[in-house]
Amino acid sequence: MSRTPEKHPGYLPLPIDKLPANKVVPIEMYIYMPMNGKMLLYKEEEAVLGPARHARMHEFRDRFFYKREDQPKLEAFLKANPGDDVRPMKSLMSNPHFLSGAASKEELQSRSAKLLCNHFGFTPDETSDESITEQMQKQINQVTAGVLEVLEVDAGVLDKLKAVVGALETSGWNHSANVAGISALLALAIGYTDKELLRDIATGGYLHDIGLSTCNLPMRARELNYTPVELERYRQHPAAGLELLEILELGVSENVKIIVYQHEEWHDGGGFPQGAQGADLFEPAQLVAIASKIDHLIRTDLPGFVAIDEAMRKIGEENGAGGGACEFNPGLLNQIFDAVFSGGAMVSSPLASYG
Ligand SMILES: [Fe+2]
Ligand SMILES: [Fe+2]
Repeated sequence: MSRTPEKHPGYLPLPIDKLPANKVVPIEMYIYMPMNGKMLLYKEEEAVLGPARHARMHEFRDRFFYKREDQPKLEAFLKANPGDDVRPMKSLMSNPHFLSGAASKEELQSRSAKLLCNHFGFTPDETSDESITEQMQKQINQVTAGVLEVLEVDAGVLDKLKAVVGALETSGWNHSANVAGISALLALAIGYTDKELLRDIATGGYLHDIGLSTCNLPMRARELNYTPVELERYRQHPAAGLELLEILELGVSENVKIIVYQHEEWHDGGGFPQGAQGADLFEPAQLVAIASKIDHLIRTDLPGFVAIDEAMRKIGEENGAGGGACEFNPGLLNQIFDAVFSGGAMVSSPLASYG
């Protein structure tokens, strides 16, 4: 629990956990700098906290303050805006399709663990001393370690991408493992070097769709074929994924949680669950979204599948060129295509139309 620094009696700790994302906050927010003892204005009055910033504030929750005189204003605001949009815990408890009726935390955890196993086609060893969650954690670590090994291979990005797709498959099409590999490779290609972040991106890629396991949806090619009721359930899957991570207490970082939560958001705000856009999107979440799209286009169990470089060209053409929907950040796509195709693997840049 944070305390007001002695030098600043006019300030009170900001209750970050109660503060909703995507709402206009009616007070000024300050951040305390321990190195020089100063209190700096962090957000003007009437600022909106996007989900990415909101999540980052969670990491440093003890450092935020507000002016004591604003206390009545803040209290009224919190009363009118209860809950916390970034941490949608609890809603699963009442989700009729999922965990309703779970009597205890343990039951909730064991049901969640089973859903996760189904999602990954993973059969837990019932005779093992380890819990299902521990076994699942091992599986996640193995996939992530496999991805990090591929990153070290001395080859061009496109060759590595081709190698990674399928190399990580255990049986048949494995979207999760493919996305883990593709997203980490894309990140490396555009200059991400921090190993922990690359590991988080691979982990986030592997886990991004776990929420689907709660949605009780029929196997269909794409969400376009869902009925309105199914579509509504489908749109819950990023939040459900975040909740699963929290219920299971898997050892994953905040980065991974944000990736899972934001992987269906669009650069232009047309995605879900929050319709967050632009700078409020965590770039690794966009990388995972791009990787997921690539993998959907190359999967061989769907008609019309294409090679990986062709898939990237298609994404470039569909994304924003000619004023269409802008699912992915065009600047980010440009960086990716520059990195992937700079070796002359393609005749022309797929994003030439961006200018
Ligand atoms: Fe998804
Ligand atoms: Fe996906």
